[in-house]
Amino acid sequence: MIGERADLMEKVTALCKRRGFVFQSSEIYGGINAIYDYGHYGVALRRNIRSLWWRHMIELREDVVGLESSVIMNPEVWAASGHLSGFTDPMVDCLGECKQRWRADHLSGDRCPNCGGPLSEPRQFNLMFKTHIGPVEGSGADVYLRPETAQGMFVDFKNVLNSMRVRVPFGIAQQGRSFRNEISPGNFIFRLREFEQMEMEFFVKPGEDERWHRYWIEARHRWYLEVLGLRPDRLRLRPHDKDELSHYSKATTDVEYLFPFGWGELEGIANRTDYDLRQHQERSGEDLTYLDPETNERYLPYVIEPAAGVDRIMITCLLDAYDEDEVRGETRVVLRFHRDLAPVQVAVMPLSKKEELIAPAREVQALLRPHFRVEYDQTGGHIGRRYRRQDEIGTPYCVTVDFDTVSDGAVTIRERDTMTQERVPIATLLTSLRERFI
Ligand code: GAP
Repeated sequence: MIGERADLMEKVTALCKRRGFVFQSSEIYGGINAIYDYGHYGVALRRNIRSLWWRHMIELREDVVGLESSVIMNPEVWAASGHLSGFTDPMVDCLGECKQRWRADHLSGDRCPNCGGPLSEPRQFNLMFKTHIGPVEGSGADVYLRPETAQGMFVDFKNVLNSMRVRVPFGIAQQGRSFRNEISPGNFIFRLREFEQMEMEFFVKPGEDERWHRYWIEARHRWYLEVLGLRPDRLRLRPHDKDELSHYSKATTDVEYLFPFGWGELEGIANRTDYDLRQHQERSGEDLTYLDPETNERYLPYVIEPAAGVDRIMITCLLDAYDEDEVRGETRVVLRFHRDLAPVQVAVMPLSKKEELIAPAREVQALLRPHFRVEYDQTGGHIGRRYRRQDEIGTPYCVTVDFDTVSDGAVTIRERDTMTQERVPIATLLTSLRERFI
């Protein structure tokens, strides 16, 4: 299966640039490694991913509240969380010709995979980006770009508790940028140095943590299958071995996807115990315990954490949706996005640039725009070419206004996946399309 899809990553990468999903950051200066920009359709896809997550993690529940904490925090946070001392990867240098750096735990042999040269002894490399705050550089002014959003939820735990009338079990969720100076980033937007996370810390009574861990593993697995519509045979759950657990975790299960380069992590669901709250309580001197209003018992809650990445979900959705078929002897490239994910849901196009078609096409656009993500497309020449372009950005439906529309008040709905066309009166167009999106 991986063999069959060996060139899939290259095809998707090329499509992302060609169609305005993803660009290399600072490309005119030669780019910058593992940092990307997102173009119009990429932004739309990411917004849809984020809002589907927010909808299911917060809006459709009553026990999770939102937060947006800062990227730069008091450096004590990272001392307490263990990131200053322990957020490291083992790194080796090539001592041969190429001088490349590698993650020691990603290598199988003891020679450089690039030039075959000898390798140095491994040494620990901290992945946090360091900068300084204020005008004077010096160790007192050192600050870090956050390597995970999670610490914001722990540090604001008391503020949320005192302001939001929440009771354990409850969660705090946020979406936002994180930064890691990865030693060996790669696979397009799979492993980046600047990326976006969607994380939720769910606070539970100790002793109930294992049950909630199972609950969230199952809930998150279902979200990928049912909400994003990913192919079940390319998704799996994988519990971590004891020796690969993070320093804070008692147990972690990953949701993994079968990428063209093999199985890779999409999301980790960790049982973080009371590690973080305890560390912050000790270092800050603030009481972070929770008082159970029913039993009058005081305790530090345990935490179950589903932690996902927007960029990884984005590349997964692109790879999962990518398809090619044969149409009249030509290869058609199509992104078969789930309708909720598609950057454009309906494209409206007049068959030609004649004024008599443009006016009704603009009316159809105005009719649909309040209800769907609509794109109006009168450029690009022949209608077949415009359909191909919409197929490549994954638009589920095209609505075409032609010369008959002027006399019969009907338009054609063309479906992306089957390429079937149906003539529908403009009067019932909105209902027809709505039925297709249920
Ligand atoms: N708070 C826990 C935490 O950060 P993680 O497994 O290191 O756990 C969670 O990260 C998710 O964030 C990953 O499953 C992945 O989707 C995303 N992620 C982590 N590092 C990344 C990177 N360098 N590039 C892109 N996404 C990344």
